[in-house]
Amino acid sequence: MSWWRAGVLYQIYPRSFADSDGDGVGDLRGVIDRLDHLEWLGVDGIWLNPTMPSPNADWGYDVADYRSVHPELGTLADLEEMISEAGRRGIRVLLDLVPNHTSDRHAWFQDALTGPGARYRDYYVWADPRPDGSLPNNWQSTFGGPAWTLDERSGQYYLHNFLPAQPDLNWWSEEVREEFDGILRFWFERGVAGFRIDVCHAIVKDGELRDDPPAGPDDHPKIQDWGWRHVYSMNRPEVHDVLRRWRAVADPDRILVGETYVLELAQLFPFYGAGEDELHMAFNFLFVHADLDAAQLRPIVEGVEAGLPEASWPVYTGSNHDAGRFVTRWAGGDEAKARVALLMLLTLRGTPFLYYGDEIAMPDVPIPPDRVLDPVPEGRDGCRTPMQWTSAPGAGFTEAADTWLPLGDAGARNVADQRADPGSVLSLVRDVIALRRERADLHAGGYETLPAPAGAWAYRRGDGTVVALNLSDTQVTVDVAGTVLIATDRERDREPFDGSLPAWTGVVLDG
Ligand code: NOJ
Repeated sequence: MSWWRAGVLYQIYPRSFADSDGDGVGDLRGVIDRLDHLEWLGVDGIWLNPTMPSPNADWGYDVADYRSVHPELGTLADLEEMISEAGRRGIRVLLDLVPNHTSDRHAWFQDALTGPGARYRDYYVWADPRPDGSLPNNWQSTFGGPAWTLDERSGQYYLHNFLPAQPDLNWWSEEVREEFDGILRFWFERGVAGFRIDVCHAIVKDGELRDDPPAGPDDHPKIQDWGWRHVYSMNRPEVHDVLRRWRAVADPDRILVGETYVLELAQLFPFYGAGEDELHMAFNFLFVHADLDAAQLRPIVEGVEAGLPEASWPVYTGSNHDAGRFVTRWAGGDEAKARVALLMLLTLRGTPFLYYGDEIAMPDVPIPPDRVLDPVPEGRDGCRTPMQWTSAPGAGFTEAADTWLPLGDAGARNVADQRADPGSVLSLVRDVIALRRERADLHAGGYETLPAPAGAWAYRRGDGTVVALNLSDTQVTVDVAGTVLIATDRERDREPFDGSLPAWTGVVLDG
């Protein structure tokens, strides 16, 4: 079985993992210093949020150079050393690729701005105003306001699905496609095991730039919030040509994981192509945005089981740098709930992606108004704060007096304290990962829903492993039997299971 199917992946926000040079900002040498933690935890691969040079209008998601490393994070040599040091510990490294847009400081865009005849003009999406002088169409930026900004020099508008400082690339251009083939190869040659692909669903736009239709009452609440169905500004079928092309570059052994921000499973499955010719994994945002509620999550998992192409592989995650930490969003800061959520994530059929700090049940950190850095109004800084390694000043993250984003309550939750405590969340996560590795049922076996009372969720993995979760405030009795391999309440480990599950507890059974 391939490493990424059997394994656990771990997302690192490089500015916030570990600061090796005392400037209050995490960096790649900091990641190297902490690889032992990841090896000890048992993860098989890491995905690093953007590492390329960027003016940081959107914290790395505005790339100014696709073949280099942001100086604040280190050098290309540091990245190469990180890849080889991770490799020595059996850990692969995925980078974040941002193909939908560049920074407005990228040399291509700077050239494109010189006029309609510029060498790189066609790398971006330009449109004339409508005859009445209004915007080319009704497309809205995901970050608010119109998706078009006027370039006064030429009188044309350029498209940006995000900030005006993030002009969208023109994926109808064969030259753009070739540029990115080269960028993928550049990093593969340096030992990168694959990419998480930003805004993967949206890179190709409607060739005729037709208006998006308005959202309707039956649409997912997120779509209703946006106000529009993104059927022309995003989600075009032609994206699959690009994904097949990238897959050909990635095969036989590099992987592509897409940020596939669609809110219907029927729209998610096509990102896997026929099963093995597009993405290896397509992030499931329906799952992320569901509540921690069996009645919501179970049908999503059942839908994936029923609808995913046979050769494809699910992926589940609870936290990321946009959606926030599941400990806050799903669990409201309640550790018992966080434990059940972790047991679920690590025992479903599919690859779990943990976000740094999930393993110690780190919650989102409240950000005072004068420390806000995120350009997005609702603010994503709270889930991007420094990792909490120890209870010392600087949380073991930095020697600096201050950090780029505020530290959370490292006294309450940190790696060092939890490592010393066999009953901690961290010990639970490590032990479940170890169980998952040693037990083929858990990393490779099939999924089958078992009957369970309301509020609970039970499933069989493979032939001989059962998971029972109580995602409710009341005790339930589940009709499953076996010996407890691991329980969120560690006192139950190795005991025979009597069917009773107190509120917000879960067990994995040999049965
Ligand atoms: C998705 C990224 O995850 C998010 O952080 C970013 O702001 C947008 N794409 C734009 O690149």
